[in-house]
Amino acid sequence: MKSFARFFSSIAFSSIFVLSGAFFELRASEREVRVYSGRHYNTDREVFKEFNKKTGIRVRLIEATGISLIERLKREGKNSKADVILLVDAARISNAAKSGLLQPYSSSILEKNVPIDLRDSEGRWYSLTRRVRVLVANPKIVDVTKIKNYSDLSNPSLKGLVCLRKRNSPYNQSLVANQIVLRGEKETKSWLKDMISNVSTPYFPGDIGITRAVANGKCGIGIVNHYYVARMLAGVNGKKDKNLASKVVVITPNPAHVNVSAGGLAKYATNKKEAIELLEFLASPRGSEGLAGPTYEHPLVGFNQSSEVKYFGAFTPDKVTIKDLGKFNSKAIKLMRKAGWD
Ligand SMILES: [Fe+2]
Repeated sequence: MKSFARFFSSIAFSSIFVLSGAFFELRASEREVRVYSGRHYNTDREVFKEFNKKTGIRVRLIEATGISLIERLKREGKNSKADVILLVDAARISNAAKSGLLQPYSSSILEKNVPIDLRDSEGRWYSLTRRVRVLVANPKIVDVTKIKNYSDLSNPSLKGLVCLRKRNSPYNQSLVANQIVLRGEKETKSWLKDMISNVSTPYFPGDIGITRAVANGKCGIGIVNHYYVARMLAGVNGKKDKNLASKVVVITPNPAHVNVSAGGLAKYATNKKEAIELLEFLASPRGSEGLAGPTYEHPLVGFNQSSEVKYFGAFTPDKVTIKDLGKFNSKAIKLMRKAGWD
């Protein structure tokens, strides 16, 4: 009886086996990978379905916002069921790596598909999609021809017209980290001080709220991730938002601050082989485009092909690495707090 059980447990891991000359196919669900995802987009499920069709590996998805996901992983420790961790924002993924939540892994497939500046040098995480931090302006309120870069938000002519998302948003933390790397601490400090003095309305909880406020004239200008405006323009959030988004002008600084969503192998992954297969699929051109297309992000290589995103024009990423955004995250938060960024 024991050897019978052993026989069955040994074949349970192969997807096809031969018995009495006939083929029996085991259920595809025999192999699975558990994904903890901070990417809160329904359309990701389509990509996981495609992966399942291709490999027979079932994706079990646990979604949560970035920060609670990290807390959860820390709390679970060795008992964590996570195999793959997906997060949005450079600082979040590098903090996850620093906290020992990810294990290094490298393969020629990942190295071929993920550009070197978009992956961890130790192989703990790999970017999967890209997003651009852009400016949204109301052309009836501000002179859009005079605003080209994030630094222009400190101009005294914008007094009372700048709207910003709250300090705890990782997107802005990464933008400030980016400016520290590009322009140095001293210049960033004075930029922050002057930009904050241009803010009059309360700080916003999200990028969509900022876009709406700029469109309806409550604000003159704000900073958002490009895909929020694209989604509004495409009508994803309904007619009202589509109409509002058509009233704003998107200004893409050149070069622009580019952030990412990224994934890595969880420290205590039990389905390691399957997790690696999934990561390699998501980082492939097909996988990255599958993630980025419906969310209006940009894939790792090339650009989102939707008319809404194309309408914003091309962008050139600046030279700041994703690793540096993580490195300067705590410095950025400190400067933001000191400048009065709520
Ligand atoms: Fe987002």
